[in-house]
Amino acid sequence: MSFDLTEEELLAAATREAWLDPDRYWRSIHDAVREHSGPVVALSLPALTRNAHDLTRRAGGIPIRVASKSVRSRAVLDAVLGLPGYRGVLAYSLPEALWLAQGETGVDDVVVAYPSVDRAALARLATSEDLAARVTVMIDDPRQLDLIDEVVRPHNRARLRVCIDLDCSWKSPLLGHIGVHRSPVHDPEQAEWLAAHIAGRAGFTLVGVMAYEAQIAGVADRPAGKPAAGALMRAVQRASGSELAERRAEAIARVRGVTELEFVNGGGTGSVERTAAEAAVTEVAAGSGLYGPHIFDRYEAFDVAPAVGFGLDVVRKSSPDRATLFGGGWIASGPTAPDRSPLPVWPAGLSYEPREGAGEVQTPLRGAAARSLEVGDRVWLRHAKAGEIMEHVTHIVPISAADQALEPITTYRGEGQCFL
Ligand SMILES: Cc1ncc(COP(=O)(O)O)c(C=O)c1O
Repeated sequence: MSFDLTEEELLAAATREAWLDPDRYWRSIHDAVREHSGPVVALSLPALTRNAHDLTRRAGGIPIRVASKSVRSRAVLDAVLGLPGYRGVLAYSLPEALWLAQGETGVDDVVVAYPSVDRAALARLATSEDLAARVTVMIDDPRQLDLIDEVVRPHNRARLRVCIDLDCSWKSPLLGHIGVHRSPVHDPEQAEWLAAHIAGRAGFTLVGVMAYEAQIAGVADRPAGKPAAGALMRAVQRASGSELAERRAEAIARVRGVTELEFVNGGGTGSVERTAAEAAVTEVAAGSGLYGPHIFDRYEAFDVAPAVGFGLDVVRKSSPDRATLFGGGWIASGPTAPDRSPLPVWPAGLSYEPREGAGEVQTPLRGAAARSLEVGDRVWLRHAKAGEIMEHVTHIVPISAADQALEPITTYRGEGQCFL
């Protein structure tokens, strides 16, 4: 089953922004999927359409490469790639990239965002001219190139497309390391050196640079109830952004002095407008902003529509003022903190038991609404992040502009794929 996000009816529904009235929004999703057994994951197509269009508006005309780890459904990837403003996939694993790219209807431009040492997958890539023309691997160390050479010697393989991962963390004189610990290629000189190294090796073509500023794109700058922390975060992000803009421009100029590049990728949902404004960047990456998970409610510069929610069933009541859900512990990755838990959104006014939180097989909820919940009722929640929820289900139920449940679409898991 596939679907299209381009119909006028969808756009019209998207502009009505039904999610601004959460009670009606979640109730209509609830009614639409009433016949589906829980746990059920629903995807509002008007909300997805709104989010997809808002991301392109924020990108200001430069193409968006879809971060597939934040989507994990082939049908959704295809629908989004069918929209103007989207081009190519930023995949998270090489086997995933090969799976997406293979065959006549395969995606013709897939960049794997992280280095791979999967020898079997590298062998598949290197022995297929077709896959090697569609898939780009990520490099930040000559050792990764050596490993590919060990798998298939350069004279026995297709030329492989490679991309340099430029580290975007900020080495702040005052605050220390701000950002993630990924690539060792930080300085423009290091990027130039690695580009020259790749150019001097047989069997590789350097086609791009990826420079992802996690400390700006992935960190909310308006944390709930903490205005001072938000102000500090915005100041740090501004300072880090200025440092990066200069360094990224110099690194790209130096790399372009070695070889022509097809693309320079940067950013993520949280930084689209800021990253797109840099002249050195030719495309931005984004994925989470499509589903609109609740961590992205806390950014100053943009809003997301909650396109994905999941419904869990009440299976028992330990007391009149508590309702216990079947399942619930779909905690998001990252630094372990309360904001990584799913957020109960409907009926309004439910909260976790502090000592239990979101449980593996069952989750007791309390709060005013718990009193009126009965065995067999359903509660709706939003995941903290975008893609991980899709590892828990085989299908997603799309909800149409007319609030109808459409035929379920598959997640990666539903297609028998488990990449990570
Ligand atoms: C390399 C890279 N680019 C972009 C993103 C942004 O993805 P999203 O839009 O889902 O936040 C990520 C997320 O971790 C990433 O690792």
